[in-house]
Amino acid sequence: MYVCLCNGLTDRQIRAAIEQGGARTPAQVFRQLGCAPRCGKCLPFIAAMARRAEGEAESEESALACAR
Ligand code: FES
Repeated sequence: MYVCLCNGLTDRQIRAAIEQGGARTPAQVFRQLGCAPRCGKCLPFIAAMARRAEGEAESEESALACAR
C-alpha cells in the first residue's frame, strides 16, 4: 500500500527502514530511503508506524525480562 504518494513509498519500504534500518522518526525514514517529504500528509502515519515498532520492541524486551 502506498503511504507517501509524493515519493511513491509503500508501507513495506517504510517498515523495512524502521525495522531493518533502525529509523525512529519520519526524517530518518526519508533519509534512509533517499528522499524528502513534500506535502507532509504522510508524516503522521509514518510517525505512528515508527512508534508502533518502538512499542513492539519494548514489549519484546519486557517479555524477555519477565521470562528470565
Ligand atoms: S504524501 Fe508523503 S510527502 Fe506527500
